[in-house]
Amino acid sequence: MSNIILIGFMGSGKSVVGRALAAELKMDYLDTDELAEQAEKRRIPEIFKNDGEEYFRDVETEVLLTLQDFDNFVLSTGGGIILREKNIPLLKAMGPVILLWAEPEVIHQRVRGATHRPLLRVKNPREEIDKILEVRTPLYKKAADLTVDTSKLGPDQVAKEIREWLKSR
Ligand code: S3P
Repeated sequence: MSNIILIGFMGSGKSVVGRALAAELKMDYLDTDELAEQAEKRRIPEIFKNDGEEYFRDVETEVLLTLQDFDNFVLSTGGGIILREKNIPLLKAMGPVILLWAEPEVIHQRVRGATHRPLLRVKNPREEIDKILEVRTPLYKKAADLTVDTSKLGPDQVAKEIREWLKSR
């Protein structure tokens, strides 16, 4: 299948890079967060508040299942999509999985002030980023076919690296 799957932590640039890639490659752009919100007819903070994280993870898996037969899209995924082991083959079945990486401090700067991410609505988000990354880093790395460190790159440069990698395969 000729899709492109972007994974990575909150603030790693999945949405902005995904949109740029989709426009350049004339592909559709899809986002599991948006699809989850559409399916639930409510925003993510409300889902977390009323039904909890595990419920949200169920919705994410449902979203991946609905996408299996579609083609020609760039998919940006929620930062926790790799937490459910069964999601990994679902992601891989759709196309190459590309990890957008960023240094924890860079992530902190990027997500600062944003209020739509329930997991970072805590007293010390910087510490929380380290804690979550410790759990997720091996999972991200294991799932990824390519890793791009976005810490010092703009979205266009990241998109270019991905395009070049896709061409060279
Ligand atoms: C989450 C990341 C969010 C969203 C939800 C949970 C996570 O998506 O899915 O708030 O667990 O890392 P983004 O990575 O697009 O911010």
